Amino acid sequence: MPDPDTASPRRASRRQFLLGGAVAGVGAVAAVGLDALVASARPAPAVAEPAASPLHGSETVPFHGIHQAGIATDAPAHALFVGLDLRPDADAAALRRLMRTLSDDAARLTQGRPALADTEPELAVAPAKLTVTFGFGPGFVARAQGEAPSWLRPLPAFGIDRLEPAWSDGDLLLQICAEDPLAAAHAARMLLKDARSFAQVRWWQDGFRRAHGTVAPGTTMRNLFGQVDGTSNPIPGSADFDRLVWVADGWMAGGTGMVVRRIRMDLDTWDELDRPGREQSVGRTLSTGAPLTGMREHDEPDFTAVNGLGFPVIPEFSHVRRSRSDDPRQRIFRRAYNYDVAPDGRGVSESGLVFATFQADIDAQYVPLQQRLDELDLLNQWTTPIGSAVFAIPPGCAEGGYVGETLLD
Ligand code: HEM
Repeated sequence: MPDPDTASPRRASRRQFLLGGAVAGVGAVAAVGLDALVASARPAPAVAEPAASPLHGSETVPFHGIHQAGIATDAPAHALFVGLDLRPDADAAALRRLMRTLSDDAARLTQGRPALADTEPELAVAPAKLTVTFGFGPGFVARAQGEAPSWLRPLPAFGIDRLEPAWSDGDLLLQICAEDPLAAAHAARMLLKDARSFAQVRWWQDGFRRAHGTVAPGTTMRNLFGQVDGTSNPIPGSADFDRLVWVADGWMAGGTGMVVRRIRMDLDTWDELDRPGREQSVGRTLSTGAPLTGMREHDEPDFTAVNGLGFPVIPEFSHVRRSRSDDPRQRIFRRAYNYDVAPDGRGVSESGLVFATFQADIDAQYVPLQQRLDELDLLNQWTTPIGSAVFAIPPGCAEGGYVGETLLD
């Protein structure tokens, strides 16, 4: 039987080349070069080789505009939410300098350019849809001597809350999102270096969704309970979204209100619940996210449908029923991220949602919803809010301007 490696003259000569190169001490690089030479002598393949996956690191989201990016723009895979406290001596003039500098950093980094005095400029070249969104807490607006929107204050206390100061409040928010965690981490570091003489970090929360390219674009995210989460949400770009999310007048025109709640999800006790119980607690199926009365994810839930025993198919206590108000104004835009950190000894998991929502008027839209869920929502059995913060998200700015100028100038 012929030796398969020497049967063909071409193979034999290739082998001799490689062996000869190694013996002569030419090494791997030369061997690879010869390999390429040999390959180029082969006849062209009949079928085209599959193209390499396109890189998406260079994709950018515009920084300048009427609205800040990171709200109506698609939520990428990674998010950092950083809450800062202003230093006692940061007055209005200092805040102006701070926001000018941070806006300049964000304008550069989001477009794949290093920040001024960037210590790691190589990390800036692949922004991967980086966005930076700035938010002002009540303390920031007071320090700027501006007029705070009536809803800019901590949310009222709810019975389900077990809030920890370490995850709550703050004067300044940085929401940094990107498809690539390194791009987000670099942006956070540059912004925090430039902010450090004005403010210090109070809390830091990182969140994730599926990595880019894992599922088809536009697929609704899943949370760590396995639920499809985000189906019934105002659609960015629609008139409905514009009405619900953007503030119409004053220095906040084109801005919005933001709630950031850290909600622990007890995966260990959720494990004890069977699949029908899990689906009833929300009112939607786990496989597709369809309402229990429908077939597809975006079918409208039928809250009047009853089963053979006369009970509602979507239970009265289910999360979708309780979180849908009859008042069409009581709606919010949810842009949540999962978190999963080291367990603290109580169980196997320490996980949940960084539940970020945007709405023009937090008192009129978010608070009544949260009150309804506080009164009744079976999901409360497995979820606990442990952090809460409210921010005014100012409008975006034009090139040469800075975020916050409508408040600070
Ligand atoms: C860890 C906590 C939470 C989890 C796991 C969760 C999960 C879900 C899921 C699976 C859905 C159904 C699919 C969808 O439309 O997105 C949903 C819907 C919804 N949730 Fe939550 N949620 C949580 C907290 C909250 C909170 C705190 C609020 C508001 C204060 C809220 C408001 C809503 C709203 C408005 C809907 C859409 C209802 C509709 O119109 O159909 N959720 N949530």
